[in-house]
Parts: sequence; structure tokens; C-alpha cells
Amino acid sequence: MTTCSAPGKVYLFGEHAVVYGEPAVPCAVERRARVTVDPRDDGRIRVDAADLSLDGFTVTWGDSIDDRPDVDVPAPLVEAAMEYIEAAVRQARDAADAPGVGFDIAVESAIPLGAGLGSSAAVVVAGIDAATRALGTELEPEEVARRAYEAEYEVQDGQASRADTFCSAMGGAVRVEGEDTRTIDAPPLPFVVGYDGGAGDTGELVAGVRALREEHAFAADTVETVGDLTREGERLLADADPGSEPSDELLAELGGLMDFNHGLLEALGVSARSLDAMVWAAREAGAHGAKLTGAGGGGCVVALDPSPETEHALGYTAECEQSFRAELATEGVRVEVA
Ligand code: PMV
Repeated sequence: MTTCSAPGKVYLFGEHAVVYGEPAVPCAVERRARVTVDPRDDGRIRVDAADLSLDGFTVTWGDSIDDRPDVDVPAPLVEAAMEYIEAAVRQARDAADAPGVGFDIAVESAIPLGAGLGSSAAVVVAGIDAATRALGTELEPEEVARRAYEAEYEVQDGQASRADTFCSAMGGAVRVEGEDTRTIDAPPLPFVVGYDGGAGDTGELVAGVRALREEHAFAADTVETVGDLTREGERLLADADPGSEPSDELLAELGGLMDFNHGLLEALGVSARSLDAMVWAAREAGAHGAKLTGAGGGGCVVALDPSPETEHALGYTAECEQSFRAELATEGVRVEVA
């Protein structure tokens, strides 16, 4: 039995613009998916999944992954979870050169599904690492990231960026620009997440921005401006001491850029009333800055606040179903039980 875990992520800056070659800075956060894997000889796959939403549920699939589970969650979420797990299994079989092997797989996740926190990437990353290790093959985190990207690419019909999988595998802050992915230094940023209980349709939202950008030069400029502010944010992080708590001045500067980034995402049509309400609740509670994270349309916002005020205020915001601290996760994928 081998258990690995991998973190979810928030976008400090740059979602959507990254699709058009601008840089983005996702950061891994301390909300993890844990995947436990036991190889089996009969080639079958059995999956137990718990807590796939914040409310949590348990589902046991039968002996074959073709058996559809009977659970009280939207079928597309469960179908999607199964497709990601199947794709991770294919990658692990290939990496370990064990094409016929089966697995018992248990997934536990504290990351809301489809809400911009990289839940699928975390499950795929932890799953590939656990399954290959259970077969005696150890992959470097970069290789886990590459294979997890292949798995997501397959499930999402080519609509996957490398951001989620690279960030989850490597941990910490990363920078993504086109094919170029690298880790960057960042101090321990005090993230607070607000979750509206919903999810956005990434494909639809990306298509909306693409259409706006093609129609209006000012929308294309807006996308470029997101790239500019991301580069500015990168400079701030590069000048900070990664080993010390961030100063209030740094948090104020990063927060100002996050606020600006949210405004531009709003202009590009990917925010939502619930996301705006949570962003404003965070700002009014004294957060240094707040923005939506991920595709938008619903899901999560991220704020910077070392004090308990933002988490507390979000807890009293009607549009917010859950709020929690999610500190920068310096560790990416890791072995929990060898
Ligand atoms: O909601 P998420 O975590 O899947 O993030 C989507 C980020 C986009 O930039 C909108 C799309 C992408 O693939 O980069």
C-alpha cells in the first residue's frame, strides 16, 4: 500500500491571460488530495473516493471502472473524477511498464471540485506518484508533472495548461509561460480562500475571453495588461526574502496587483456576483487584496491576510459557503505512507 498526497493551488496572478502566452503565477496551497494505491493481479480497478466535495461523500465503484456509482452528487462530477483516475492509471502503467496491472485506489481530498483550486490535478499527480511507487518505480516530480499534464490533456480534450499539474507536483510558487514552467521563490504568503459552493465552466469561460479578445483590441490589451501586472508581481516576489514572513509593505503591493487583476478579469466577463461579493467582503475585512482564482464564473476567491479577519468575515458573507486559510504549500507531491 502506498499513499501520496499533492496540494491544490490558487492563482496569485495571470489565469486566462496564460492561455494567450502571458505569464501566470500559480501557488500551491495547503489543501491536499491523498491517494492510496494497492496493485492487484487481476487487472481490475476499484476506487473509493471520500470528500470529493467540501461536504464530503463516499462512493465505492464496483470491480470494473465501467460500473457507475449510485451517489448523491452531480453525475458529471463523478464521471469526470473517474476519467481523471483512469487517465492517471494509464500513465502509471506506462511509466512502470506494467500494462496489465490493476489497482485498489482510495482518494481523499480536501479540495473543492471544479472550483479553481486544482482538485483534478492534485488527484492525478498524487495518483500517478502513488501508483508508480507501489510498482517499485520512483519518478522525479518533474516527470510526475509531465505525465499528469498528459493525463489532463487527454481528459480535457487538449484544453489543459501545464499550470495546475506542474504547481501541484512541485509545490510553492511557480511561473508558467507557454511551455516554459519553473519554480520561483516566494515567502510564506497568507492566503485565505472563500468558496461559493459552485463551479464555473472552464471551457465556456475561456471561449468567452477568446471571443472578446478577437472582437475588441481593448480586450486584447486587457489580456496583455494582466501579463504586465503578473511580471510586476514576479519582480516583487524575486526581491522578497523567501525565508521570512512577508512584510506588510510587500503584502500591500501584491494585494494591490491582485485587486487590479480581479478588476481586469471582471472586465473580461469571467467574474460572478458571488465572486465579487466575496472579493469585497475580503477587502472590507482588511485583506491586502483579493481576486477570483481559476477560470471564474463561480468557485473560489483568494485573498491575502495574515490576520483572522478575512476568514471570519467571509464566514458571515451570504455568498460564501466555506472560508479557510490555505497557506502556501512549499512541498509538492510527497509520500505519506510508503
Ligand atoms: O479553474 P482552473 O483551476 O482550471 O484554472 C483555469 C485557468 C485558465 O487560465 C482559465 C485556463 C487554463 O487552462 O490555463
